[in-house]
Amino acid sequence: MNSMENKKVAVVTGASRGIGRAIALKLAREGCLVVLNYNGSVDAAGKVKEEIESAGGEAEIYGCNVGDYQACEAFFKEMIGRLGRLDILVNNAGITKDGLLMAMSEEDFSQVVDVNLKGAFHCIRQAARQMLKQRSGRIVNISSVVGLHGNAGQANYAASKAGILGLTKSAAKELGSRGITVNAVAPGFIETDMTAALSEKVKAGAAAGIPLGHFGSPEDVAEAVAFLVSDAAAYITGQVLAVDGGMGM
Ligand code: NAI
Repeated sequence: MNSMENKKVAVVTGASRGIGRAIALKLAREGCLVVLNYNGSVDAAGKVKEEIESAGGEAEIYGCNVGDYQACEAFFKEMIGRLGRLDILVNNAGITKDGLLMAMSEEDFSQVVDVNLKGAFHCIRQAARQMLKQRSGRIVNISSVVGLHGNAGQANYAASKAGILGLTKSAAKELGSRGITVNAVAPGFIETDMTAALSEKVKAGAAAGIPLGHFGSPEDVAEAVAFLVSDAAAYITGQVLAVDGGMGM
């Protein structure tokens, strides 16, 4: 037996950077063995694994495009077969392909929905099979304030993030009787590579509309996720927790 025994196993998708990385580091600090999913960035995922291990935690990396159902099936089958259990799933992987609705290609719409929404479905489908056997589990899906309120230039992204909310609530209703909670976190503007692409003017305008007056950090989102997967949140399911400095009020 190895030291993994008795540890909670947590899968975080898109964990090579940004919010996913912060969630992975936080769950590792909380004592989980964290499986870091990544798509193309093996080096970045490896660095997160090293960071976790140098702090005394345990992590593995696993490459898989969450938008590919068969790849997800193979990923979860192999990982659960080897580790023997799965306690936490955080569906964090996400992409943007922004553009105004009238100019948005069908391909850009589909790609965003395939990764952000179908990716979460693929992973829940695989994870829930094991969690149902264990009669316990925690699933957190990363949505966005944009999924709650919409955003000009992000019809594809907003639709995918709104879809996440319906998926979350439906899964919460279906899986609740087996001790599995399913919740969503809806971040506002968070300082990551995704928002680094915005101009200073857009960033200043966005910050002006945030009651707390500034962008959040990936760690702010990680704290909310850590709460929702903790024992303290055992009676919370089907909820959407906004981590947005109050901008969605
Ligand atoms: P990011 O772009 O820095 O990181 C996204 C991660 O997802 C990367 O590690 C990327 O490799 C991974 N990924 C992308 N496509 C993938 C695929 N097909 N399969 C597996 N992994 C894939 O983005 P950030 O900012 O860290 O966002 C993380 C999540 O939070 C996303 O779902 C995003 O939509 C959401 N979010 C971010 C906000 C922000 O202000 N940064 C605000 C609201 C929500």
